[in-house]
Amino acid sequence: MKLRTLSAATHLKGVRVLIRVDWNVPIEGSYVGEKGLKLERTFGTIRDLERRGAVVVVMTHLGRPKRRDPKISTERLAQAARRMSGVPFRFCGEAIDTKEGLAKADALIRAAKPGTVFLLENVRFLKGEETNAAPVAKALASLVDIFINDAFASSHRSHASVVGVAKLLPSYAGPELVDEVSALTHLLEKPKHPYVAVVGGAKLSTKLGVIAALLKVADRVLIGGAMAHPFYLAKRLSIGKSYVEKDGVPLARKLLKDPKLALPTDAVVAPKLDPKKVRVAFIDDIKASEVIGDIGTETMMTWSAWLKKAKTIAWNGPVGVAEIPTFSHGSLVLARTIASRSKGECYGVVGGGDTLPIVARSGMAEWMDHISTGGGAMLEFISNNGDLPGLRVLQAKVPATRKPKKTSKKKTKRE
Ligand code: 3PG
Repeated sequence: MKLRTLSAATHLKGVRVLIRVDWNVPIEGSYVGEKGLKLERTFGTIRDLERRGAVVVVMTHLGRPKRRDPKISTERLAQAARRMSGVPFRFCGEAIDTKEGLAKADALIRAAKPGTVFLLENVRFLKGEETNAAPVAKALASLVDIFINDAFASSHRSHASVVGVAKLLPSYAGPELVDEVSALTHLLEKPKHPYVAVVGGAKLSTKLGVIAALLKVADRVLIGGAMAHPFYLAKRLSIGKSYVEKDGVPLARKLLKDPKLALPTDAVVAPKLDPKKVRVAFIDDIKASEVIGDIGTETMMTWSAWLKKAKTIAWNGPVGVAEIPTFSHGSLVLARTIASRSKGECYGVVGGGDTLPIVARSGMAEWMDHISTGGGAMLEFISNNGDLPGLRVLQAKVPATRKPKKTSKKKTKRE
């Protein structure tokens, strides 16, 4: 998909630019943890706009608030971003879905000198943001001259700050968004084979679409994490006291018929996930009191061997309870194997909110061809063949091809 982008030559001095980023990360105090990559990736775009003299208005969502909640105000994100980037973000906490709030924010932004950078309050505090209500999109658009979406991780949402505002202003895809789209397109258009995909995480129902899409293009789809559990139940195997999404069992039964799909053959298990009592068990030997915490050593070796032969790799979601170090080895082995294959003969892409911390911990993030910051967005991009609502509104118009001249129906003498 070709997206509209802002030319480097465009005059931006004094131009008010609204930029949607996705800084939806866990935040403690004013510190963001291993998902800080989501912020870091957008600093380049913001610094560039600042340097070019634009008045930059940054906006993001944080969490899934039902109402205005000071605990997830973006004010602390402004502090974190200031410290991480050196850019002097000014927090604009006005409720722009009210007349007075909008007027105050407008006055502040209009009075700002070129190069000023604001961060707006959490867009999910705005009534109508998630339903893409026209008044919210209009309020956002009224504050600025142009709009940039640099939030791939939010581009699967038809929200006012992603889709609505883009329809009201001259709007462009930011460099990070373009980068994500071009990297993930490799997984859809003529990927090199063998193509191995690894899908982990907890709920099968959230990843059904992506598994079905990957089964069409990949040579092997490896299923790990709690998502493998409905498959074991479908095969009448015991998973002890492990978490399972029961509704997933009929779905798993259908998918099992596909020979491309592979499940772990062994697991690291422990009673109540007690890291001091772990053992490795074959999948048909899990005790009623045990819980599956990670893929086992045999699986690590088999999967690594497949990955080492792959020419395209896509990985989304940890294959164990990776936040507990004892159960993170399987995911770390995957991260290191994929990194060792990438940037060479193989094109390796990893992504998903919970996968980023593992990749960071592996110490090999720089060796991946691409790390997607999109969780749901990456999955929907693959499931929907690259079509996301946030991208659709930024699609560059394909120049109309000239109609071929009509050939005369009159017969020539020769005929
Ligand atoms: C994410 O964390 O995947 C994105 O920020 C999207 O968040 P959402 O699922 O709350 O829309």
